[in-house]
Amino acid sequence: MTRKQLHLGLFLQGAGHHVAGWQMPGATYGSENLPHLQNVTRIAEEAKFDMVFLADGLTTSPTAHPSMVARLEPLTLLSALAMGTRHIGLAATASTTYGEPFHTARVFASLDHLSGGRAGWNVVTTSYARSAANFGKAHPDHDARYEIADEYVSVVRALWDSWEDDAYVQDAEEGRYIDPAKMHVLDHKGRYFEVKGPLNVTRPPQGHPVIIQAGSSDPGQELAARSADVVFTAQATLEGAKAFYDGLKARMAKYGRNPDELAIMPGAFVLIGDTRAEAEALLEQLQSRTDPAEAYPLLNERLGTDVSGYDIDGPLPDIPVSEEIRSRSELLIRLARSRNLTIRQLLNMVGAARGHLMLVGTAEEVADEIGAWFEAGAADGFNIMPAWFPKPLEDFATKVVPILQSRGLFREDYQGRTLREHLGLKRPRHPRAT
Ligand SMILES: Cc1cc2nc3c(=O)[nH]c(=O)nc-3n(C[C@H](O)[C@H](O)[C@H](O)COP(=O)(O)O)c2cc1C
Repeated sequence: MTRKQLHLGLFLQGAGHHVAGWQMPGATYGSENLPHLQNVTRIAEEAKFDMVFLADGLTTSPTAHPSMVARLEPLTLLSALAMGTRHIGLAATASTTYGEPFHTARVFASLDHLSGGRAGWNVVTTSYARSAANFGKAHPDHDARYEIADEYVSVVRALWDSWEDDAYVQDAEEGRYIDPAKMHVLDHKGRYFEVKGPLNVTRPPQGHPVIIQAGSSDPGQELAARSADVVFTAQATLEGAKAFYDGLKARMAKYGRNPDELAIMPGAFVLIGDTRAEAEALLEQLQSRTDPAEAYPLLNERLGTDVSGYDIDGPLPDIPVSEEIRSRSELLIRLARSRNLTIRQLLNMVGAARGHLMLVGTAEEVADEIGAWFEAGAADGFNIMPAWFPKPLEDFATKVVPILQSRGLFREDYQGRTLREHLGLKRPRHPRAT
């Protein structure tokens, strides 16, 4: 029997994950710099990663993270990346609060066709209320956003089934291009959406592009248990990750789903040295380049409270959990309390990895930690977050991946063609298929 293998994603942020990463000697950067983005995607593909993932937001400010201050629309960018790659999955965020299911179904179906079945949609509800001002809408509250998301995802999935797989007959002899009997009109009239359909793109090669879910609050986990193929999550400790993993997988049974139908992939910030001291010195160097003024907006946003007026070397004051970005704010408050962190330490942590697991050490140590989480049943894989590009990614690809391969934990080569196949997920059958 072949051993269960872990999955790897590249969480691609144009200027790297550390807020000061782009300033490191030899760094390449730019969320709109296509040759750089193509290069790092190629490194991930050579290392046989399952996918590259582009996050997205719908607002900006001059104090945003350098990777996020200005960035290309991710589906447009993924279409360009699809042309220079053959195997790696191509995933991106699209909001269910500021979008239309018809558009979302269409763009991901299109990307799936263009890439030969490599598309993945990261479903997010858009945390920050300021996004509303770009759409002339009011920002729905947290739980309403998840109710909308639930209906949104089911409409998108149904639109992907507008055509049966063999509807596109293209029979030149008979002069029949499509079989109209294999086209289905959705006629959805729900609480939030009315969508007639059918979609004007045929069924995607994967049936349904891979659905990723990235919110870890209670309603977020419920949405994931019902509909997601992959979950991205921020987890800082093995114990916390294990509890999250077990809890989420247990929720799947009530939707008639098997735990293997969902891959849970926490983010992992990586920084590798020939010795642990060397890796720690690199982190130190990054931290010394980080102006607290740059890191405060990142921390305040994720906490949901402005803490810049408090003593930077004192503890985090008593603050409420944010209603905008619930699970992340909870995670950071919990970490601050359990590890007695000062605000300065929290700033350093958020400036590096925004609360995600941080793997800083030798290739062997990083591989050990990844293996430990995987073997403990705390993760099915990781979304790798290089501190900057390209060196920390190259180090991971050329030093950590071979160790994982030699331990039988990660593929030596791609076995399948589609992202679903990389992830070991079934292609959804068309509901009318016999
Ligand atoms: C790896 C990862 C990637 C995420 N990417 C995005 C993103 O691209 N856009 C976004 O608005 N939110 C993104 N989120 C945030 C989540 O969608 C969600 O808003 C946040 O985790 C809070 O979730 P909760 O309100 O369910 O607790 C991401 C979260 C994680 C863990």
